[in-house]
Amino acid sequence: MLSKILVPVDGSENSLRALEHALFIAKSTGAQITAMHVIEHPPTVYVESQKLLNDLLSNYRKESTKILDKCKEMAQKSGVNLETIIAEGDAASNITGYAKQGGFDLVVIGSRGLGRLKEMVLGSTSNKVLHNTKCSVLVVK
Ligand SMILES: Nc1ncnc2c1ncn2[C@@H]1O[C@H](COP(=O)(O)OP(=O)(O)O)[C@@H](O)[C@H]1O
Ligand SMILES: [Mg+2]
Repeated sequence: MLSKILVPVDGSENSLRALEHALFIAKSTGAQITAMHVIEHPPTVYVESQKLLNDLLSNYRKESTKILDKCKEMAQKSGVNLETIIAEGDAASNITGYAKQGGFDLVVIGSRGLGRLKEMVLGSTSNKVLHNTKCSVLVVK
């Protein structure tokens, strides 16, 4: 019933807490976990030149690898096998699309992430994923 879990991570404490929950579930169910990071492209109006955009993206890609390395380390400590995937573009639509395409049974996501405005219970990514994903979603606070 629960064989594939997708955990979207942006590197925030909240997303790593979501991963801890997923690892806990995986240990008792034997489910396979995939940690996914989406590199979000900055709005083009803010980027003055192609070079600046390329530099930004190259930094984001390095950061993305670091985030997923941290996830692998956490999984290793828990004795759980973890796969990773990096996508680029809109976070919510990539997460929702990958959950469907990969036949995941559960998405475990943080309620908030790296955004600075914390008044709302959900961030825009977790909100969209909760609304648009067909499988079950566990929102970790
Ligand atoms: N770029 C991303 N790639 C993968 N997961 C993400 C990304 N951005 C957000 N998430 C997931 O969504 C959760 C909520 O983040 P988000 O909705 O963006 O809130 P905030 O507005 O506080 O940043 C995070 O804890 C993480 O699990
Ligand atoms: Mg965010």
